[in-house]
Amino acid sequence: MFSLIQVLISLLLIFSLGLSIPLNSAYASEKHEISLTLSKQLKQFVKGAALGNQGLEYFALPDPKDLSKIPADPQNPLTIAKIELGKLLFHEPALTINPINPKHWQNGSCATCHLAESGFRANLTQALGVGGFGFNKQRHRDPDAPPTDIDKLNILAPSVLNVAYQDIQPWDGRAGVTGPNANVPLTKEFDINRFGYRGLEALSIEALTVHRMGTAAIAQIPEYQELFAKAFPDRPYVKADVEDNINAGLAIAAYLRTLLPNEAPFQKWLHGDESAMSEKELRGAKVFFSSTCIACHTGPNLASNSFASLGFADHPEDFTGLNLGRSIVTKNPSDDFKFKTPQLYNLADSTPYGHGASFNTLEDVVQYIVKGKPQNFETKFAGTLNSLFKPLNISGQQVDDLTTFLKTSLHDPNLIRYKPKILPSGLCFPNNDPESKQQLGCS
Ligand code: HEC
Ligand code: HEC
Repeated sequence: MFSLIQVLISLLLIFSLGLSIPLNSAYASEKHEISLTLSKQLKQFVKGAALGNQGLEYFALPDPKDLSKIPADPQNPLTIAKIELGKLLFHEPALTINPINPKHWQNGSCATCHLAESGFRANLTQALGVGGFGFNKQRHRDPDAPPTDIDKLNILAPSVLNVAYQDIQPWDGRAGVTGPNANVPLTKEFDINRFGYRGLEALSIEALTVHRMGTAAIAQIPEYQELFAKAFPDRPYVKADVEDNINAGLAIAAYLRTLLPNEAPFQKWLHGDESAMSEKELRGAKVFFSSTCIACHTGPNLASNSFASLGFADHPEDFTGLNLGRSIVTKNPSDDFKFKTPQLYNLADSTPYGHGASFNTLEDVVQYIVKGKPQNFETKFAGTLNSLFKPLNISGQQVDDLTTFLKTSLHDPNLIRYKPKILPSGLCFPNNDPESKQQLGCS
C-alpha cells in the first residue's frame, strides 16, 4: 500500500518533470522539426529538379583533400604537387616583376585582392593591386603614383572560393569554352580562350599578365625549380618563358579549385550535425530555400553557371557608360545588364557587395532583392530584368533570419588553412610594400 506521503512525492515528481523536461524538449523538438522540414524541403527540391537521388549531397562540398571529388579541367588534372605550388604562387609577391613604376616591384600578389582573411574577396570598393599600399581594408593608392601606375578594375573583385563549381569566369563569363560558353562564338576579342582551357584555368593564366606578373624572378630560386619539376614532370626546369607562365597559371587554378568552405555550419548540418546551426539560422535557411533565391543560387556553391539582371548599379569608378555585362561576350541584346550569379559563402568577411559594389551590407542586398526595384534605372528599359526580380512576400522577421543564414551558416571560420606558412622567396605576403609589411608584422 502507498502511504499518503509516497503519493504526494510521486505527484510532486510528476508535476515537476511535467514542467521542466517538456519545456526543454519542446524547444529542442521545435528546432528538430524545423531541421526536418528543411531537410525534406531540400530533398524535394533536388528530386523536383530531376537531379536524381542525391538528396542533401547535392548541396555538399567535398573535403578539399579528396581531389577525385573536385570538378577539374581535363587538360589540368589536379595533383598535390600542383596545388602546393599554386598555393605559394597565389601569395607570391616575387611574381610582380612588371610594375609600371619600379618602386612597386615585387609589392603584391593575387592574394592582395583575394585575401583568405576576407573570404577571398578584397574588402574594398575597388581592389588595388600593384601601386597600392597597405593590407586588407587599410589598402589605398600610392599617393605619389599617377592612376596609370595602379592596377585596378572598375568592378568588384569577386571571391575565388568555390570557383571549381563555375565553368566560366569572371562577372561577364568571358573566360571558358564550356557550359554557357559552349555555343558562344568566341571572337578574337576573347583571346583568353585561345588554349581551350576551362574558365578558371584561362583566367588564372591571363590574370598573371593583367596584374603585371611573370616567372623570371622565381626561376632564380632553387626551391621553385624543384616545385615546378614536381608539378610538371614533363618539364623539369623553369626558364621563365611563355610555357612557364602558363604552367604557373595552371598551378594557381589547381589550387583555387581546392578553396572550399566545407567547414561552414550549413555544410556540417548537411552531414547530419543538427547542433551546427541555431534555430534562427534554420528558419533563415527555410526562407532561402523556399523563396526565389534557390532558382539561381543552387548546388554546392549556391551559385549557378547562369547570368541574370537584378538591376544592380555599376561601379562608382565606371565612367565608360553602362556596363552591359554578359552581352559584351554574347553580343546578344537580350543579355544586356546580366552578370554571373555569384557564390554565397563567407560574404560576411568582406564588404561591399554586387558587381558594382553598390551595397554596403548583406542586409542591404537582401532587402533590395526582397523589394524588387532596380537601382540602375536603365535596366528597366532594357527589358532584361529577371522575372524573379519582383517584390517578394517576405516579412521583416524573415529578412532578418535569411540574413543570419547568409552571415553565419554560410561562413567557414577557418579559411586561413588555405594560406601558406612561408614562401620560398622569403618575402612578406600577400603584400610586400612598406606599409603592409608593418601591418603584417614582417621585419
Ligand atoms: C587588382 C586586384 C586583383 C588582383 C591583383 C587579382 N585579381 Fe582576380 N579579380 C579582380 C577583379 C576586379 C575581378 C573581376 C574582374 C571582372 O569581372 O572583369 C577578378 C576576378 C577573378 C576571378 C574570377 C572569379 C569569378 O567568380 O568569376 C579569378 C578566378 C581571379 N580573379 C583570379 C586571380 C588570380 C589567379 C590572380 C593572380 C594572378 C588575381 N586574380 C589577381 C581583382 C584582382
Ligand atoms: C534570377 C536569379 C537570382 C535570384 C532569384 C536571386 N539571385 Fe542573388 N544574385 C544573382 C545575381 C546574378 C547576382 C549578381 C548581380 C550583380 O552583381 O549585378 C546576385 C547577387 C547576390 C548577392 C550579392 C553577392 C556578392 O558577391 O556581392 C547576394 C547576397 C544574393 N544575391 C542573395 C540572394 C538571395 C538571398 C536571394 C533570394 C531572396 C537571391 N539572391 C535571389 C542572381 C539571383
